[in-house]
Amino acid sequence: MLELAEVHVRYGHVEAVRGVDLQVRPGTVSLMLGPNGAGKSTMLNAVAGLVPLASGSITFEGERLSGLPPHRVVRRGVVLVPEGRRVFAPLTIEENLRLGGHTAPRAKVRETLAKVYEMFPILADRRSSSAGLLSGGEQQMLAFGRALMSEPKIVLLDEPSMGLAPAVVDTIIEKVSLMAESGIGILMVEQNTEAGLDIASEVKVMNRGGVVFAGPAGQVRTDASVLHAFLGDAALTES
Ligand SMILES: Nc1ncnc2c1ncn2[C@@H]1O[C@H](COP(=O)(O)OP(=O)(O)O)[C@@H](O)[C@H]1O
Ligand SMILES: [Mg+2]
Repeated sequence: MLELAEVHVRYGHVEAVRGVDLQVRPGTVSLMLGPNGAGKSTMLNAVAGLVPLASGSITFEGERLSGLPPHRVVRRGVVLVPEGRRVFAPLTIEENLRLGGHTAPRAKVRETLAKVYEMFPILADRRSSSAGLLSGGEQQMLAFGRALMSEPKIVLLDEPSMGLAPAVVDTIIEKVSLMAESGIGILMVEQNTEAGLDIASEVKVMNRGGVVFAGPAGQVRTDASVLHAFLGDAALTES
């Protein structure tokens, strides 16, 4: 289990994450909703070791993760799929995937690559094409595949639905669900309130760095006050 306890992150005087507690269990999807600027990416980046904590702790399987450099967080089995996907456009699909496997023993890479191609047949068909030629949805699948190359136990997804048409979002969410079924614990953050609610077990809503709601996914749909807290404040951040 991945566990965040009282996590605070600061950029200078700005406290971007204020006291976030959450847990991610193997084989489940935890969803964190929140408007732009809520602190969602900062929270994920802190788990990935990309930004330091001001206070609090992050542990995985009972051992401390916070304070480790990013490559050691990956070796411990926790991998980030960053916002905007960040695939290497000039490289082929297969080269992108192999980069994701650079922390794994060489002999394993072939085997893991085969598994990734099985989960994402579209990547197998186009393995020699440049990643830059892929559609947004295909690039998102490549970003998932690249993360899976490190054989993670926890995958952190930063707004996987961003910029994608609804039908494509459905395909992406199906893949997230498959990853969870394979035993991986998923922590997904989204601004899009529709993406992921169907597959999530736990849902939290974050705003201005803090968690303003936590509960089962069904409650987000039915509880008007939750949506108001979320969308009302989202409207505020626009102004
Ligand atoms: N590198 C940074 N330096 C300074 N402030 C930042 C940096 N990254 C994000 N912020 C600020 O931290 C807050 C949270 O940002 P972010 O985590 O990106 O939110 P979200 O992913 O929910 O949109 C925002 O106010 C943002 O402007
Ligand atoms: Mg973000």
